[in-house]
Amino acid sequence: MTEPASYWPPFALVLTTPRLSLRPIRDEEIPAAVQAAASGVSEPGRSPFSTPWNEFSAEDLGPNMAQWYWRCRGNMSPQEWTLLLGIWHDGEFIGCQDIGAKDFATLRTVSTGSWLRKSAQGRGLGKEMRAAVVCYAFDHLKADVAESEAAAWNEKSLGVSRSLGYELNGVTRASWGGTMQEVQKVRVTPTTFKRPDWTLKVQGHEPTAKFLGL
Ligand SMILES: CC(C)(COP(=O)(O)OP(=O)(O)OC[C@H]1O[C@@H](n2cnc3c(N)ncnc32)[C@H](O)[C@@H]1OP(=O)(O)O)[C@@H](O)C(=O)NCCC(=O)NCCS
Repeated sequence: MTEPASYWPPFALVLTTPRLSLRPIRDEEIPAAVQAAASGVSEPGRSPFSTPWNEFSAEDLGPNMAQWYWRCRGNMSPQEWTLLLGIWHDGEFIGCQDIGAKDFATLRTVSTGSWLRKSAQGRGLGKEMRAAVVCYAFDHLKADVAESEAAAWNEKSLGVSRSLGYELNGVTRASWGGTMQEVQKVRVTPTTFKRPDWTLKVQGHEPTAKFLGL
């Protein structure tokens, strides 16, 4: 019983695209995640996240990210789960793509969020990693809907959504650190999804699905 997946089944999951490897972030990989985030994710003073975690001081960034990863793992259950997938490109950690659900057995709906370090942005990698989790959701988890949302000004995130066939799903107002933010919601279904021209390779689905109660 030395493999991490022997005590935490989702650690077996690996999604592979032409350029990327996506897998749940392990503790020993947290330093690489913190380093990628510290190198810059968004323009200073304009965080695309409801909690501007990426703008925390160098001192607070590591503990905050680690605690978030542990919290997500600690709270996982068939009723509510989040897989935080680290993104590896040419052997380097470049960002994170998460996929999660509440009451999945009933709603068959997943939601996603993501970030890439700035130097990896704008090369189609954000689209590739989102396409990977949407393929995984529809083809393996048998989801009916994948949802996402972004600040109405976040053209990069909405650009990924648009290019994968997501449709606009209403605007809502949210309080981000006490400031009003217009948030654009989007959704895609197996019918509207503009599939990539590559096939996703999936390893470790069965233990993950069993752990998620599927
Ligand atoms: C959002 C993010 C993951 C997107 O990844 P990316 O690698 O930069 O985006 P891609 O290069 O894959 O672009 C995908 C599509 O969006 C389009 N796009 C990208 N930037 C755009 C912009 N500023 N305006 C319009 N379209 C844009 C691209 O043209 C492409 O569409 P196409 O394939 O049809 O040409 C990345 O930019 C990021 O980490 N941003 C900071 C964090 C963030 O905003 N996270 C999301 C929070 S909701």
